Amino acid sequence: MFSRKDYMENKIIIANMKMYMNIDDIKDYLIEVDKKITNNVILCPSNIYIPYFLEKKYKVGIQNVYFEDNGAYTGEISISQIKMMDINYVIIGHSERREYFHETDYDINKKLLKALDNNLNVILCIGETLKEKNNQETNDILRQQLEISLNNVHSNYQDHIIIAYEPRWAIGTGLVPSNLEIANTVLYIKEFVKEHYKMDIKVVYGGSVNELNVNNLNKINSVDGFMIGGACTNPDKMLKIISIVNGIDNN
Ligand code: PGA
Repeated sequence: MFSRKDYMENKIIIANMKMYMNIDDIKDYLIEVDKKITNNVILCPSNIYIPYFLEKKYKVGIQNVYFEDNGAYTGEISISQIKMMDINYVIIGHSERREYFHETDYDINKKLLKALDNNLNVILCIGETLKEKNNQETNDILRQQLEISLNNVHSNYQDHIIIAYEPRWAIGTGLVPSNLEIANTVLYIKEFVKEHYKMDIKVVYGGSVNELNVNNLNKINSVDGFMIGGACTNPDKMLKIISIVNGIDNN
């Protein structure tokens, strides 16, 4: 878990490994990343491979949760099951969950409240579609997502919430907003959350971040880190990203 001090001093790097990689890839990956992984990295592999990461004592996140405590919900995983495995982070509301599994902001709110009540750290994903961006609705959409998903969240939880701003059109496409666009949107998110929820929240950027563009993206002051999908599954790329974000490598 990040303390306030960790938050102030380090950028957060979240590896969203999605449904990529098989067991052989994972074993090779762990050998490679073990050399240089740092404490500000949260690795979020496929559920069945999580124990391999826990063995290494890495910070581990799960890619989704269900809001019911237990019961006949085939294929779902509850928050108490997650907690008992010593998994401390949970991604909630990823755009792929919204798009392919029809998750709504109301579902996301239920998951978020439950996770926070159970002392989990939440990575809440928000972002606009290309159509919404082109219609200049980005801030309206983000506001709506935040209003519903953070409904009834108490400001005490501020250190347990990371918001991942991930424009949907930037995920897996190689397209990335300009630094100015990201900076403005992240500031909008921070100000909105401050004003409405009295929280100083950390906001990371995600969407086609890779080892080649992260140096430039890392210059955006308001961004507190990155969420990385495709590039994180390649250990060399991931280690390069970690070094750059941590200021050890500037190329
Ligand atoms: P990407 O994915 O880096 O492959 O664009 C990011 C994400 O989905 O979190």
